[in-house]
Amino acid sequence: MYKYPVAEPEIGEEELKNVVEAVKSGWVSSRGKFIEEFENSFAKYIGVKYGVATSNGTAALHLALTALNIGEGDEVIVPDLTFAATINSVIYVSAKPVIVDVNPDYWCIDPNKLEKAITPNTKAIIPVHLYGHPCDMEAIMEIASKHNLYVIEDAAEAHGAEYKGRKVGSFGHISCFSFYGNKIITTGEGGMCLTNDRELAEKIRILRDHGMNPVKRYWHDIVGFNYRMTNLQAALGLAQLDKIERFIGKKREIAKIYAEELSSVEGIVLHPEMPWAKCVYWLYSILIDEGKVKMTRDKLAEKLEKDGIETRNFFYPLHEMPIYRKYANLTYTASSKISKQGLNLPSSIKLSEEDVKYIARKIKEAVIRH
Ligand SMILES: Cc1ncc(COP(=O)(O)O)c(C=O)c1O
Repeated sequence: MYKYPVAEPEIGEEELKNVVEAVKSGWVSSRGKFIEEFENSFAKYIGVKYGVATSNGTAALHLALTALNIGEGDEVIVPDLTFAATINSVIYVSAKPVIVDVNPDYWCIDPNKLEKAITPNTKAIIPVHLYGHPCDMEAIMEIASKHNLYVIEDAAEAHGAEYKGRKVGSFGHISCFSFYGNKIITTGEGGMCLTNDRELAEKIRILRDHGMNPVKRYWHDIVGFNYRMTNLQAALGLAQLDKIERFIGKKREIAKIYAEELSSVEGIVLHPEMPWAKCVYWLYSILIDEGKVKMTRDKLAEKLEKDGIETRNFFYPLHEMPIYRKYANLTYTASSKISKQGLNLPSSIKLSEEDVKYIARKIKEAVIRH
């Protein structure tokens, strides 16, 4: 346990009340009033018509790809810098992932490098709104529409983030969210698919429940999964959703303090927010230019740990991992550099202003050359 964790949930009386109500009602599995309410409320919050709650964010991605009939012989473009769930879901459906570099300025998939990766077999793009920063959705949707591709937004880390005033998760054909314990709002484990397409939503719903015919019980027209969310999880999520604007406000306040404290430090690049973006800073992150500071990123992380300050190194670029290397045939200059330099800082909504200033001071003391 760290005194200053990277992320931790804030769970209050409202969540407790909902969960107790769900338990007392006896609806503890995947039926019950909270599920539909959570689906509808979250979809409405993002600005999408239909929501299908799932057991986790990875399951949401798997369902999205399956519902779009993506499979063997198809190619799906993913960014080099992401959590493994993004690429794994493509492999689950036997499609071929194609790894594309990220933009050096805001760390998400680079639309300028996208078109080079498109072949006659490309069926979809999965842009990932990394660490709370939106992708350049206009550029991505334009390329997708030109080449007739599906877009599945991976918004696991970016609840409430906006691109030109519109929430991420409302651009793609389907978007996928995670409600894991460290996410902006949580259901413990959990996820959701959102879509404006009624038929697609219905198909995802059926696939989530073993592919069972919704009117003819125990009759299966397609092979599905058990990827359902429980009523208990949805009860928790619904109470969390009521607080989402406060949580995001807090994340943005934390970001502002880090930025103020660290902006003048030579060798530190702050978490970006492009002019077209509202970043939700799921994990406030910095890049450390090791040539300009006193110690390496890894040494800094070690030093901070001694003061009870948890940090995380950025994700490894997918193309560097032997298991995924065969899906990487392009160049990856930005992702390699960002991954080596990147550090996620404590971004828990429970941190006070003094906490964030203390962490920033510890970073400055460690890295500034005198
Ligand atoms: C970018 C991204 N995609 C997908 C997932 C998968 O979500 P889950 O852990 O709920 O399966 C995560 C997070 O954990 C993630 O960060």
